[in-house]
Amino acid sequence: MSETVFLNGAYLPRERALVSAFDRGFLFADAVYEVIPFYAGKGFRLVEHVERLQRSLRAVAIADRLDWAALCEELVARNGGGDQAVYLQVTRGCEAQRNHRYSEGLEPTVFAYCYAIPAALEGDPERVAGITATLIDDIRWQRCDIKSTALLANVMMLQQALTAGAQEAILVRDGLLTEGSACNVLIVEQGGIVTPANGPFILGGTTRDLVLELATADGICCREEAVAVERVKCADEIWITSSTRGIVPVLRLDDQLVGTGRKGPLWARVANLYRQFEQQVRQA
Ligand code: PDD
Repeated sequence: MSETVFLNGAYLPRERALVSAFDRGFLFADAVYEVIPFYAGKGFRLVEHVERLQRSLRAVAIADRLDWAALCEELVARNGGGDQAVYLQVTRGCEAQRNHRYSEGLEPTVFAYCYAIPAALEGDPERVAGITATLIDDIRWQRCDIKSTALLANVMMLQQALTAGAQEAILVRDGLLTEGSACNVLIVEQGGIVTPANGPFILGGTTRDLVLELATADGICCREEAVAVERVKCADEIWITSSTRGIVPVLRLDDQLVGTGRKGPLWARVANLYRQFEQQVRQA
C-alpha cells in the first residue's frame, strides 16, 4: 500500500504531493508545524498539540480553517493506525512573486504525513539508552514559543553538538538554560524537578507539561523558574523530553558525568508514570 499524505484538502500517495516553489513556506519559512504522536492509532495529547498549533497560527496570523484533530486521525487511520507520528505543516500560502509583504486572504498550504515511531520509552524504561549532550549558545530569535518551520539555527546547533561528539545540544542564553535543539530540558535537584518557565525563549513542550503534571500528581516537587547554567552542570539528573523521544536521561554533559553517569532514580520513577499514561491512551 502506497503511503498516504494530506495536501490541501486531498489524501494522496506521497509521490503526488507537490508544492509550488513560490510557496511562502519554501521562500520565507513563513509557516508553522506540529509533530503529534499516535499510539495504537490514538492521539497522544492531541488536544494540547492542536491548541499549540492554533497558538502558533494566531501568533503569525495564518488562517486557521481546518479541524486539525480530525485531519490527523483520518490520516493515521488511512495509514493503518498503530504507532505513528503526524508531521503537520501550515504555510501562509502561495503568491505570484516573492515579496516580504504578504497579501491578505491567501489560502494556506496544508501538508501532513505520518511516519512510524517506537512506542514511548519503547514500552520499557529499562531499554531506554541515555545520551550525551554539550552546552551550546542559543543563537535563535526571540519567539521560540512559536513552532515555526524556520529551524536553521536548531539545525546548526545540533550539528555543532554532533561535531563535538555529543548527541544533543543543551542551549544557553545569557547564562540561563533554555531547551534542547528539538526538545525541552529538565533537571533534578534535591529530589525535585526544575525546568525553565514557558516564555519567548522556549517552545512550551507537550511532553514537558505532561511530565510536570504526572510528577506533581505523584508528589514530586516541580518548579518552573530560571535555571542558571551552573545549576545544570551540578544537577543530579538531566532529562530531555519530546513527543517523539519521550523522556531521555542525559548521562554525560561535555566532559562531566551527570550524577553517577547512570540513569537516575527519579528518571526511572517518572518514566514509569509516563509509560503507564501511554498504556492508558492505548487502551482507551
Ligand atoms: N520538536 N523544543 C523544541 C525546540 C522542539 O522542537 C520540540 C519538539 C520540543 C518538545 O515539544 P513536544 O514535547 O511538544 O514534542 C521542545 C519536535 C518533536 C520536532 O521538531 O520534531
